[in-house]
Amino acid sequence: MSKSVNVGLIGLGGRANVFLKYYLLKMDYVNITAVFDRNQPKVEAAQKAVFDARGTTPFGTTNVDELLARDDVDLVMICTFWDSHVDYAVRSMKAGKFTAMEIGGASNIEECWRLVDTQEETGTPFMFLENTCYGEYELMAMNMAKAGVLGDIVHCEGSYAHDLRGPIAGGLRFSNYLNHNCDNYPTHDLGPIAKLLNINRGNRMVSLSSFASPAKGLNTYIRANSPDNTELCNTKFSQGDVITTVITCENGETILLRLDTTLPRFYSRQFTVRGTKGMYMEDGNCVFLDGVHNDVTFDPRSLWDNAKEYKAQYGGAVWSDPEKLYGQKEVGVDFITLTAMFDSYFNNTIPPIDVYDAAAWKCVAPLSEISIKEGNRSVEFPDFTRGKYLDRNDHNTGLFSLE
Ligand SMILES: NC(=O)c1ccc[n+]([C@@H]2O[C@H](COP(=O)([O-])OP(=O)(O)OC[C@H]3O[C@@H](n4cnc5c(N)ncnc54)[C@H](O)[C@@H]3O)[C@@H](O)[C@H]2O)c1
Repeated sequence: MSKSVNVGLIGLGGRANVFLKYYLLKMDYVNITAVFDRNQPKVEAAQKAVFDARGTTPFGTTNVDELLARDDVDLVMICTFWDSHVDYAVRSMKAGKFTAMEIGGASNIEECWRLVDTQEETGTPFMFLENTCYGEYELMAMNMAKAGVLGDIVHCEGSYAHDLRGPIAGGLRFSNYLNHNCDNYPTHDLGPIAKLLNINRGNRMVSLSSFASPAKGLNTYIRANSPDNTELCNTKFSQGDVITTVITCENGETILLRLDTTLPRFYSRQFTVRGTKGMYMEDGNCVFLDGVHNDVTFDPRSLWDNAKEYKAQYGGAVWSDPEKLYGQKEVGVDFITLTAMFDSYFNNTIPPIDVYDAAAWKCVAPLSEISIKEGNRSVEFPDFTRGKYLDRNDHNTGLFSLE
């Protein structure tokens, strides 16, 4: 890329610093021209990081309007907490900046509509930074599905299974766990599944029902680790330990999602794709194809990690030959996501994960909360595309304009 882009960063915590240190400051076509956080020391630290790498100090502020008013900001990346993403995205789109927003569940349905309405009214490009869409095995399974190798896809599963007891007890997302009972982080698992099932592109999610287990994990953890903190030990959390959601799609497929963040376990997104000719399963990283692996019946361990064999063929150019595409051998999901975002900016193409994707995926949080509160009843998804999904029949899912 011979052009350059001026980037303004909103929210300068862990995520923004990963972007800065490992990606943005290494991309020679990216200039960090402005940084904003409500916390002044974070602003100064980001300014110093940019100066140390580039020798220039970006404009720093604790007033977001000052960043958004600047002519030397073309593209804004929002990396604050979940509760402020949409507000900043709306203001950024209204200011005419290409707007990229980090992930998290929505606080309510209205904010999803606000995102969509603002994007449609302003015409400002908006990209949702759900990096798991670019995962190597997510893309492999998607390409296998598109090639028909897995037959007709009828069901997919995914989880955000991440033991966060320590960070939550220490304050991370504390008020969410205290006050809400829902799938609060649905997009890491749902994103790649929605892409695979052409959601918003010929298909859509129609309804969901959600179920919550008891909330015991956090209290057990806190009593074991902070027994003297009586107030915390006796805190009553609303959030069930495991939230299970079943989604139905207009084309008939079902999706099973699980949020699992307050019990002891290892990390997994449990990404699973089931078709009439075969399956992919993340736990075990294995592919099972009808007619190839039928001798494996009860004990699947001989298949563990055999997906590597399929990745070479179905990984797509991004994972099979990154050197050809990007000029470097090693790539990761964040690099690919950011490159896809900049590609969309430079080529003026619809961002690969757009405002309709963000709204449909994020709204699982409030919809699941309604379902759980109201006896696990089936709750309908809004159609944020207002019928346009029927004509957005982009069979390659719109993930890349690079290829
Ligand atoms: N895609 C991924 O793999 C991934 C990984 C980590 C985090 N995230 C997401 O990135 C986002 C940020 O996470 P993080 O780990 O950097 O959090 P963090 O707590 O480290 O940083 C958040 C920053 O935003 C600032 N902030 C919060 N609310 C603000 C407001 N209203 N106005 C101005 N500044 C505000 C805080 O001062 C802090 O500097 C979250 O949405 C998180 O879910 C995504």
